[in-house]
Amino acid sequence: MADQAQGLRKLVEKMGRDRPVPLFPESRVVAITSGKGGVGKSNLAVNLALALKEYGKKVLVFDADLGLGNIDIIMGIIPSFTLAHVVRGERELQDIIISEYGIKLIAGGSGVEELLELPDWQLRNFLSRLRDLEGVGDYVLFDTGAGINRHVLGFVLAATDIIVVTTPEPTAITDAYALLKVIASKNREAVVRLVVNRAVNAQEARQVVRKLRFVAREFLSLELVDLGYIPEDPSISRAVKAQRPFLYAYPRSPASTSLRQIAENFLAGEGTVPRGDKLQDFFRRMLGLLRR
Ligand SMILES: Nc1ncnc2c1ncn2[C@@H]1O[C@H](COP(=O)(O)OP(=O)(O)O)[C@@H](O)[C@H]1O
Ligand SMILES: [Mg+2]
Repeated sequence: MADQAQGLRKLVEKMGRDRPVPLFPESRVVAITSGKGGVGKSNLAVNLALALKEYGKKVLVFDADLGLGNIDIIMGIIPSFTLAHVVRGERELQDIIISEYGIKLIAGGSGVEELLELPDWQLRNFLSRLRDLEGVGDYVLFDTGAGINRHVLGFVLAATDIIVVTTPEPTAITDAYALLKVIASKNREAVVRLVVNRAVNAQEARQVVRKLRFVAREFLSLELVDLGYIPEDPSISRAVKAQRPFLYAYPRSPASTSLRQIAENFLAGEGTVPRGDKLQDFFRRMLGLLRR
């Protein structure tokens, strides 16, 4: 009997070594994006991850902003390795995951760019290695960068779960609408949720939501989900300067309170959002869109 149990244990250990047994069968991929830059995506990504962690969720933040990737700065960390090292075969995916504040982070660096240049067989190899990341968290939040450029669109059109961030400024709203237009025409399956950042008060946020929901429904037949808002709050830029997520640096600030509400809304909406993609499928589709 003892022998049998021992044998079984060895087998399980071996299986564990060959392929990490994920705690969670798959991660849910969420793309956080915006039309205009500088509207608060990276701060939302990091602090939403932390707020979801407070609700017992495991979250990985993927910094996929090729231009101004700065999640590491917001979190006050210096990544030694990025996705680029994995693409070049210098590191394993597991080696580039940074754990900080109870969440995980992957810095994309120039990795996505380099993926596009890989010959097909190497790309297939990379995609199959993504399996190792399956189960790394309940959610993988992609900070995609802003605008309607090829790279951002690759992520946004591959995602089935999208959060669009805007501020109440007319330029940000116009750019958000332009992005929604592309999503509506090329990614009809996606559920798109909206966060209004830097609103002077709840009423201003509501007006922005009403305006965007109306035009999206009327002209794009796209049903936007209101995920909540973040008020203009000096504690955010204070926290950024101190290189600490505002949810930790100023837990009782208006920004943190609103962020927790956003996390609650996010979790409450789980049933209405289609089951997210596997990371592997997401990357495959994204690269398919970009390499074309
Ligand atoms: N709600 C807010 N109140 C005050 N300042 C904010 C707020 N949200 C963002 N900011 C400021 O805007 C800057 C850019 O935010 P960030 O999250 O880096 O935007 P993005 O990732 O969209 O470029 C922050 O460093 C901060 O100074
Ligand atoms: Mg950013």
